[in-house]
Amino acid sequence: MTRDNFGSRFGVLMAVIGSAVGLGNLWKFPYVAGKNGGAAFIILYLGFMVLLCIPLMLSEFVIGRRSQANVVGSFRKLAPGTPWYFTGVIGVAAAFFILSFYGVVGGWTLEYIISSAGIGLNSELIDSEQQFHSFTQSTVRPIIFLVIFMGLTTYIVLAGIKNGIERYSKILMPLLFLMIVILAIRSLTLSGASAGIEFLLNPDFSAIDGNVILDALGQGLFSLSLGMGCMITYSSYFKKNINLSKVTLITISADTLFALIAGIAILPAVFALGFQPDAGPGLVFIILPKVFELMPGGSVFAIIFFIVLAVAALTSAISLLEVVVAYLSEELKLKRKTATWIAAVTISIAGVFCSLSLGSLAGIKIFDNTIFDFFDKFSSNFLMPFGGMLIVLFVGWKMRRADVYDELLNGGTLKIKMFNTLMFLLKFFAPIAIALIFLNKIGLLNFM
Ligand code: PFF
Repeated sequence: MTRDNFGSRFGVLMAVIGSAVGLGNLWKFPYVAGKNGGAAFIILYLGFMVLLCIPLMLSEFVIGRRSQANVVGSFRKLAPGTPWYFTGVIGVAAAFFILSFYGVVGGWTLEYIISSAGIGLNSELIDSEQQFHSFTQSTVRPIIFLVIFMGLTTYIVLAGIKNGIERYSKILMPLLFLMIVILAIRSLTLSGASAGIEFLLNPDFSAIDGNVILDALGQGLFSLSLGMGCMITYSSYFKKNINLSKVTLITISADTLFALIAGIAILPAVFALGFQPDAGPGLVFIILPKVFELMPGGSVFAIIFFIVLAVAALTSAISLLEVVVAYLSEELKLKRKTATWIAAVTISIAGVFCSLSLGSLAGIKIFDNTIFDFFDKFSSNFLMPFGGMLIVLFVGWKMRRADVYDELLNGGTLKIKMFNTLMFLLKFFAPIAIALIFLNKIGLLNFM
């Protein structure tokens, strides 16, 4: 059987950008950037994008397209008989863990689309904090929405690469862009909006310390779906005429742009209506509903906002599911359909435990964390940086330089001079930088 492929360059871009743009951009970035020194954080973040994320994304693309295989199979093909395939195992595990809790939050976005219809109908202000906690801590309702969200994800992945992932990304991503621009304009035209822009763009270099530097790095990896083979899996479906450097540069620019527009859409509204940005999920699920309530036409904008969140989460979720499906179908020789159902059902069951761990199973702790937090931290702070380090080491030190060169130059644009710089970043800068975040995150390093 021949392997499925992405049909067009536009399709490749939409799918890859769809994977990258997700909850990481829309709720995490605006808050993390604001808290950690605004523009100072953004400058750092951009620096890491160039010095670390470009080499890492190119490495994943080189591995994937050269091997034309899933994340475990790709290392088996390129380095047969060596333990390098373990890098792929880390990737599959990371995809499993991330999608388990990501699916729960994806479900919340669906619930919020529905509840947004009621915004402004009551004369009394809602207690959005109480509402958020009582919803997420309840047993049945979040699980119903988790199952719906995972059902949509499964439906798209079942249809395959060209007819599923590519087809829906081509529709959903332009829609997403349009909606977020509408929200940003609405937000910027509220009186008092400038405080939010100042908050986001005012560089406060004194806020930068070792932890902030490493946070910027971690945020970059998660936001670009790097370090766990997602981009290896997607690029294994690229045709030979795809210019890997171009896809890398466009994806990284688009992901960063989305993060910045999300900041511009969210923070001015928060400030204009007299709120302070709050940590993590609270900003989006607690503060924003209050903001929408005070805004003229708030219900419509709330619905658009939560559709944006849901779509962004969905196009990321399909890329996570595809990592596991490609692995199961190719390595365990299962039919793609069977592999998809096995992956989706087991991940959803893990998701049910994540969801319950916010309420009735809150007492179960893994290394002092709820199941939800453990899945989140274990994948983002441990598996992804570790996987990312192995990937750059593999391309920098294990693969033949001529093969890397050949794969990258297929598109015919990368200059020789840049290739040497890239190899330097891959061999030295990237592994050392990632080793630092990794050690810091697992608590072995607390400098500055
Ligand atoms: N990049 C996604 C986001 O920013 O929300 C999250 C993600 C998707 C991480 C896919 C990893 C992945 F493989």
